[in-house]
Amino acid sequence: MDNFTYRYPVRQRFGKGCAESAIKEEMARVGRNVLLAYGGGSLKRSGLYDRITGWLHECGKTVTDYGGILPNPTYDKVQEGARIVREQGIDFILAVGGGSVIDCCKIVSAQARTDGDIWDMMYEEHRLPTEFVPMGAVVTASGTGAEQNNGAVITNTEKKLKQPLVGSYHSFAILDSDLTRTVPMKQVISGAFDTLSHCMETYMGRPLGDNLSDEINEAVMRNVIRNLRALIADPDDDFARGELMWDSALAENGLLKLGKQTDFQCHMLEHAVGAYTDCNHGQGLAVIHPALYRHLLAEGKEKLARMGERVWGVKGRTTEETAAMCIDALEAFIREIGLPVRWNEMGITDETLLRAAADTCLLMPGCCKAFTRDELFEVLKERM
Ligand code: NZQ
Ligand code: ZN
Repeated sequence: MDNFTYRYPVRQRFGKGCAESAIKEEMARVGRNVLLAYGGGSLKRSGLYDRITGWLHECGKTVTDYGGILPNPTYDKVQEGARIVREQGIDFILAVGGGSVIDCCKIVSAQARTDGDIWDMMYEEHRLPTEFVPMGAVVTASGTGAEQNNGAVITNTEKKLKQPLVGSYHSFAILDSDLTRTVPMKQVISGAFDTLSHCMETYMGRPLGDNLSDEINEAVMRNVIRNLRALIADPDDDFARGELMWDSALAENGLLKLGKQTDFQCHMLEHAVGAYTDCNHGQGLAVIHPALYRHLLAEGKEKLARMGERVWGVKGRTTEETAAMCIDALEAFIREIGLPVRWNEMGITDETLLRAAADTCLLMPGCCKAFTRDELFEVLKERM
């Protein structure tokens, strides 16, 4: 294992039905003026908006609304949030939603306390924010694990880039599986596949040896696969719903990443496609993953073979054969759970967008293969 320092600041409040008591307890620790951040409409439709504002009022809070944070949150939406925080003297941001709402708030929290432009700060001045408005996350759609870390993925529509920015950690994460019951199954599947992708992206990072983080990772991957199958078979399976929620948290709370680098080349490629198409994150990952892995068979065969044996239960006569069987098993699973394997299934048919994505995506040093942009374009084109 490589050397590491591990410190973890997010209080985890896990449990079916825990939201009301957890929110009320957490509110006792924060200031009076609360910004309630949420997405495009599901919160009001499900009745959760009324319940949460009721709980906040019971706790003596003044609530300011910041709704309409859509999937793939934009830099403009971040600026709107930062403006509200400043104008209303907000003490605390409560993010209620999936990865998009939770990510957006991390950057609002930093931008509201910074005079400079947070995008330029990261990508031109190479500085990270140090001052933040305190926040907490209530997860209503699990999978990204965004509530667990201080990275956020923001789309800069003007620059045509969807890239990571660093913000603040949420001080708590409320993981109540009951809140996810209204998420459409298509999004549940896409979210759970995102969790599996985070595991694989971490597992396949350098060095490719087998450390404790990777062995824990194998258990999480097996758990995601098993519980996603169970939840698709029975959407009322609350146990499976809870397991997937905690899988999602474990994949992104840093534990699996200790003592190694991560890969995340598939993610950076998907984000770049997202900047041009606004596509669904988990679906985009499903299209790219098998194709990308077939391009790194030579460099990553031992690790892919290990994943094949220990996660997918496949074994060929040689390491190469087992590695190839691992990728086939992954692709078969993607088809089984109804995720797309080709761009046209997602309505993406313009090759020039894929070229632009390959030309702008971040290249990852932790990936076991140093991809050229031409080869990344080949990967994307193979899925047309
Ligand atoms: O906007 P509303 O109306 O709320 O609907 C949302 C949205 O349409 C809906 N939804 C959420 N909770 C619901 C619900 N519908 C019914 N009932 C509920 N309880 O779900 C849809 C998708 O929401 P979104 O937040 O966009 O999905 P997800 O959680 O997959 O987040 C995706 C974003 O997270 C980023 C992605 O790039 C993408 O921008 N990621 C963030 C990561 C991080 N910070 O660690 C890691 C990931 O790799 C990922 O890149
Ligand atoms: Zn992801």
